[in-house]
Amino acid sequence: MSMSIVDSEVRGRVEFDLAELHGAVVDPGMDSMRLLSETAMAFPDALSFSSGAPHDGNHDLSRLSVHLERYLRHLRETGVPERRIRRLLFQYGPVNGFIQDEIARMLVRDEDIHVPAEAIMVTHGAQEAMLIALRGLCTSPGDVLLSVSPTYVGIVGAAKTLDIPVKAVHEGPHGLEPEAVRAAAREVRAEGGRPVACYLVPDFANPTGTRLSEQARRELLQVAAEEGLLLLEDNPYGLFAAEGDQLPTLKSLDDKGCVLYLGSFAKSAFPGARIGYLVADQPVTEADGRVRPLAAVLSKVKSMISVGSSSIAQAVVGGILVEHDYDLRSATRELARTYLERLAATTSSLTEHFPAQRYAEHGVRWNTPRGGFFLVLEVGFTADLAAMERCARDYGVSWAPMSMFHVDGGGDRAMRLGFSNLSTEDIREGISRLARFITETPRTA
Ligand SMILES: Cc1ncc(COP(=O)(O)O)c(C=O)c1O
Repeated sequence: MSMSIVDSEVRGRVEFDLAELHGAVVDPGMDSMRLLSETAMAFPDALSFSSGAPHDGNHDLSRLSVHLERYLRHLRETGVPERRIRRLLFQYGPVNGFIQDEIARMLVRDEDIHVPAEAIMVTHGAQEAMLIALRGLCTSPGDVLLSVSPTYVGIVGAAKTLDIPVKAVHEGPHGLEPEAVRAAAREVRAEGGRPVACYLVPDFANPTGTRLSEQARRELLQVAAEEGLLLLEDNPYGLFAAEGDQLPTLKSLDDKGCVLYLGSFAKSAFPGARIGYLVADQPVTEADGRVRPLAAVLSKVKSMISVGSSSIAQAVVGGILVEHDYDLRSATRELARTYLERLAATTSSLTEHFPAQRYAEHGVRWNTPRGGFFLVLEVGFTADLAAMERCARDYGVSWAPMSMFHVDGGGDRAMRLGFSNLSTEDIREGISRLARFITETPRTA
């Protein structure tokens, strides 16, 4: 920094060397998603399996004001005076938000999660909930976050931003293995650290699409209780199981307070709202002896990050909740069917292009999730960003290199295919283009 100041005296401008900035800015891993979307955007005609954007066919501008009006009507019907409604919408609002009652009702209906509204914090997407939870929980340099690996880039980014080390717990074919979590926690302790929490997406994970069995969920809760470990359960995709195929969330099975639950309206409503939430009902005794849920205590952190979440966006999401009688699972049935059709189109196209003996020839394998937005396709060559760029430019189809999602290396020969925002026709065409790319790319040792 001092060099820059000297430079500035000479040239009259403050300039920075990248090395003078925090690791979160310098780390290439922090930039991977931007690079990925820029590469995909450089080829606008390519069919994109590279993002996890939700289906946008139902996004209707006229609905925004309808949702907002619905929420205002709800407030009036519940006897909130006009003056308070005006203040709620226009002024700085409560730090933890004002739609917690509606979210609490939704959690009961959709997930059988029973928590008081005070145990919920409305956040600027699940991303802010991750940042706030980690900030509150990790207190010293020896504190370590365990994370399933491969994992969602947002959690690793949040941890890096806060200088919290992340230890990978490698996922098995059916998701995170409880005994692997125990082993990782013990390793951290043996090295003098404190394993604080373990992050996972039990339902249709990003990036692998895997789902943890109910038995594994129960075992994981047992391991967490025995090891004194919290579980950060991130659940943006759980609503998109097939009818009758839903599994209980960790939070709904948790009777010991081991789970902090991260929610997002990005996929159940729309990502532009930037509304998510944190459920943290663990009791905390404050300096004055008052006992309050962790989410309420963490509001001090939120107040210094974002002051509060957008009142307009909360009202729109609140309107959606009221309109559907707090039952987003039923409200998103049609959407869930669309995603399941897209998943089926992806796997059936892969099967069509890679019948048994061609699998072996080209080293191609994929998993078949039961829902969600993603699956993983393994190939016989390095599937990095350069390969993706070549694929987008020469074959007209893009995807995400799996190596971007690995916490400690790996995934070099695998792609994440996100099929959520492609029609079934585009999926079939895209997989056919991808198959040509794969068969024309030489296998490497
Ligand atoms: C695992 C996971 N968590 C959370 C989110 C959404 O977060 P947000 O609510 O910040 O948009 C996503 C979206 O891609 C995700 O895949």
